[in-house]
Amino acid sequence: MKISPISFGSNNLIYTRHPANEYRIMRVSCHTSMFRSDMDWRAFSSVLSEYFKNSERVNIINGGCSDGSETYTLCLSLLNNADNHSAMKFFPISAYDYNEFMIDAVLGGYINLTPEDVVVLRENLGYKLGEYFMRLDNPPRNSMEKFKERKTTTYKVSDKLRHLVDYRRANILDVLEGMSDNTQNVVFMFRNAVPYLSTFEREKLFELIGKKLGSNTVMAFGGFDNNTYGSYIDATARKLGYLQKVKNGNSLVYLK
Ligand SMILES: C[S@@+](CC[C@H](N)C(=O)[O-])C[C@H]1O[C@@H](n2cnc3c(N)ncnc32)[C@H](O)[C@@H]1O
Repeated sequence: MKISPISFGSNNLIYTRHPANEYRIMRVSCHTSMFRSDMDWRAFSSVLSEYFKNSERVNIINGGCSDGSETYTLCLSLLNNADNHSAMKFFPISAYDYNEFMIDAVLGGYINLTPEDVVVLRENLGYKLGEYFMRLDNPPRNSMEKFKERKTTTYKVSDKLRHLVDYRRANILDVLEGMSDNTQNVVFMFRNAVPYLSTFEREKLFELIGKKLGSNTVMAFGGFDNNTYGSYIDATARKLGYLQKVKNGNSLVYLK
């Protein structure tokens, strides 16, 4: 698989990818945002807390995490929803993206926030915003420079938030492949990225989900996935034993 960046702009980076098994070249967008509005994050973290109330450790796999906005949103929602002690069983979250620029930036502990991100973070965190994100007047030039979009501002992510996530560059299919069969207590998220897979990869994704994720697992997809492949995902989820579907915005959430 060959990857080449074609434009930069923080969470708006777009690149092309040539899947090994296809002739066509695919354009992949890293677009994301804090508290992305296709999901009610408070409701989602309540579902997770309730569903896993008897589990001691839950592995959250956040595939296609882009610049980390989604993973941090989930961390903050879980912390907001549960007392610190019961939220800890969800951490560290394992987050993956196969775009090296996204993973480089997120590993550096920086994030470029749009004015909309800051508004929604203020709404959700209030005065605690500064505990998690520190605005940088002189951001480091090295890796962030190429991600800079005019309307974004660079923030440093506090260690206490950053350490809740283990970020790695990987193809989500390889991550699943590497898991033991029938793993329990997993939350598998691959949101707003299904349309970027080739037909072969999409089928492989669900075949691996069926094989690797056992009982007591949750799957979540995004509004873009729902708009594009909603009925396919619904039918496949049922086939794989995810018989309970939870209503959450335009997102797809299934329990097994
Ligand atoms: C549109 S962004 C969605 C980001 C985030 N999940 C959200 O909903 O806001 C899609 C991300 O998925 C990543 N991606 C696509 N296919 C992937 C794969 N097979 N493995 C890992 N990351 C992938 C892309 O690099 C991109 O950063």
